[in-house]
Amino acid sequence: MNTPNEMKAKLEALQERASNFQPNTEPIRILALESSCDETAAAVVEDGRRVLSSVIFSQVDIHALYGGVVPEIASRAHVDACDRVIDQALREANLRLGELDALAVTYGPGLVGALLTGVSCMKGLSYTTRLPLIPVNHIEGHVSANYLSTPELQPPFVCLVVSGGHSHLVRVEDYASYTLLGQTVDDAAGEAFDKAARVLGLSYPGGPALSKLAEGGDDRYLKLPHPAPEGRYNYSFSGLKTAFVNACHKLQQKGEPLPKADLAASFEKAVVDSLCEKALLAVRESGLNTLCLAGGVSANRRLRSQMMELSKKHGFSLCLPKLWLCTDNAAMIGSAAYYRLLKGQGANLSLNAVPALRLVE
Ligand code: KG4
Ligand code: ZN
Repeated sequence: MNTPNEMKAKLEALQERASNFQPNTEPIRILALESSCDETAAAVVEDGRRVLSSVIFSQVDIHALYGGVVPEIASRAHVDACDRVIDQALREANLRLGELDALAVTYGPGLVGALLTGVSCMKGLSYTTRLPLIPVNHIEGHVSANYLSTPELQPPFVCLVVSGGHSHLVRVEDYASYTLLGQTVDDAAGEAFDKAARVLGLSYPGGPALSKLAEGGDDRYLKLPHPAPEGRYNYSFSGLKTAFVNACHKLQQKGEPLPKADLAASFEKAVVDSLCEKALLAVRESGLNTLCLAGGVSANRRLRSQMMELSKKHGFSLCLPKLWLCTDNAAMIGSAAYYRLLKGQGANLSLNAVPALRLVE
């Protein structure tokens, strides 16, 4: 049996190996599992920077039938998929369990049942393989996707994390060390995209569909309010969303067809302008010269191109994760786990899911 002391000793030995990293040091390979929402994903990541394999089983088709994620269905689908994605990730990395150094799992924030599935699965694997288990915050995973996309990236930098559940501006002081600069005071940007998309009759997940529709639209069609929440770097998207929904309902009540592309373009512009404005302010006032984007919404084309223009105009460097690393995946969890390992942070078998886990206390 693997005793807590045995685990602690293994973790310390790994921490020592990672801290004394030399180009010829045997790499540290972590198998990571992500199951916080509607993607079951496994990946093997080497030294926090190289993706040896990444497998993502998306449940989108199942949830699309209901117009959004159904937590109970998500948990059951994760139970079905966990073993398969792990097997496939190992196969694609051409590794056996015995050749790994550690395991990692997302333990929050997210849907409690979905998280518990992954946590239980990896606790079981840790127990049987005697590999140390590293718990990872999902948001930290999104931030860490940048270490995979931009191998030379080092903290400190400012990061805009925009996903379905979060819109945060954080200062990444060091690996796994953050200061919160600002956040949304109501809806997350992805949530607003999804709600606006639903009003336009687009299927779940709405963000990518709305963005595609917006490509052919006139963004000056609908003037939306400019959010001005308290807090210099805070966001607010609920006023924007309500104004958008009301405008659509008014048109429908008059029996007029919705100019969907124009509406989508106007909404996307309003959200992206707001995201860019505060992120620019934060990076310019931070005294740092690097801005990274993270999370599902950072796959948005308009956001990426507008941020690129700003980075050229204002002379800061911009890191954009590869598209597949923006949305949920396990490679980002494997990267974040490596830097937690460097700090000697592992979990024991009492690890639990924390649905409302925060990045910064
Ligand atoms: O990071 P993520 O995969 O999951 C969470 O942690 O929430 O983000 C999903 C969110 C959804 O709200 C989705 O609509 C949005 O990201 N999203 C986009 C785009 N791709 C994904 N929003 C706007 N434009 C996109 N291209
Ligand atoms: Zn996510």
